[in-house]
Parts: sequence; C-alpha cells; structure tokens
Amino acid sequence: MIQMDSSKRRFMQSAAAAAAFGSVPYATAQSAVRDTAQGTVVRGEHVQPLTLNVNGRPYVLEVEPRVTLLDALREYIGLTGTKKGCDRGQCGACTVLVNGRRINSCLSLALAHAGDDIVTVEGLARGGRAHPVQAAFVEQDAFQCGYCTPGQVCSAVALLAEAAAGAASAVTGDVRKLGPVALSDDEVRERMSGNICRCGAYPNIVAAVKKAGGAA
Ligand code: FES
Ligand code: FES
Repeated sequence: MIQMDSSKRRFMQSAAAAAAFGSVPYATAQSAVRDTAQGTVVRGEHVQPLTLNVNGRPYVLEVEPRVTLLDALREYIGLTGTKKGCDRGQCGACTVLVNGRRINSCLSLALAHAGDDIVTVEGLARGGRAHPVQAAFVEQDAFQCGYCTPGQVCSAVALLAEAAAGAASAVTGDVRKLGPVALSDDEVRERMSGNICRCGAYPNIVAAVKKAGGAA
C-alpha cells in the first residue's frame, strides 16, 4: 500500500491552492510522486514552487526544473487544448502565446515563465464568442483531424499582430517600408511555416488566416 509522503501532501496542497483560484490541476505521470520498481514512493528531484498565469488565472504548482511549459499546461493544469506533436520544436502543435509572442511550449521550461502572461487556445474566446481567427478557421474549413489546429490558431493570432506591427518576414518585399505588412499567400505561408499540418489543410489554413486578417 502506498502511503502519502510529504511530497504528495505538497502536491495536494498545490492542487487545493489552484482549485481555490478556480482551476483543477491533476496528477499524472510527471507529478512529483512516482513509484519505483520496489514499490516505494519517492519525490521528484528539486521540486520548486511556481505560479503560472494562464488565460488570466494564476495556477499554483510544484514542478521539477525539467518540466516543460507544455507539460505544465497539459499534465499539471489540465489545459489539454495545447497539443504535443514532436516534443522537440519541429511541428508547432504546442504553440502558445507568452507576453503576446508565440513560442513552442515544448522547448521552454515552465519555471522560466513565472510572472509571464500565458495564453493558450482555451483563452482566446471572449464572452462566449470565438476569436476571429477561430471563427475564420471554422468558416474556411481549415482543418481535418484538428490535432495541429490549436497551435495553428495561436500562431495565426500572433502572426496577425506581428504583420500589423510591421514586422518583416523572409518574403517581405521591401523591409524598409514602415507600417503593416500586407498578408499575401506567400507572407502567410512563410509566417506559418513553423506549424506543420499532417493532414495537409494548408490551402484552407492560408485562406483562414487571410480572412481573419481582413486580406480576403
Ligand atoms: Fe512542440 Fe512539436 S510539440 S514543436
Ligand atoms: Fe490534421 Fe492539421 S488538421 S494535422
């Protein structure tokens, strides 16, 4: 029989604290408590307290330094909208917004994001209405299986802000020109190139991003 040791108590306290903020984290394979082959209970290595601000809510956690932001979101907090594809920065399925910029959450450690403003696909809708990018993806039928879609949507949200702010891409014609960058097909393809879709829904994704950006 497994007895609750101090690390598990701390995790339960963390869960209770998060629940007090209205969230419901849950223990999974990467929680601080695990069984060894001998059946004894050990705690994770160098577990540290961490508060992540996700979609406008604080989540109080205890994580090992090795835990990625992606795993903290999915396995600790329970926000499974953000997907794990490659877990090595190649597919973009794990894209989230941190302080308004898109990142691959599988490549970033959770402990590096204390105090950051993190937005996942679950946090894009406002007042029960889908974000314009989400609405455009539905309207343009920009997905098949949908596994890549949360990452595509988060990436597109950041893309529109980047283009509106005049940030040039590798295919921007005149990088000296100030002001918003027009979203041609090439601009959208280049700026979305970090997000892979194994179903090949690319033409519809480009159409959706252009639609959301007012270019179509
Ligand atoms: Fe992060 Fe693929 S899961 S880039
Ligand atoms: Fe299936 Fe993109 S819709 S991977």
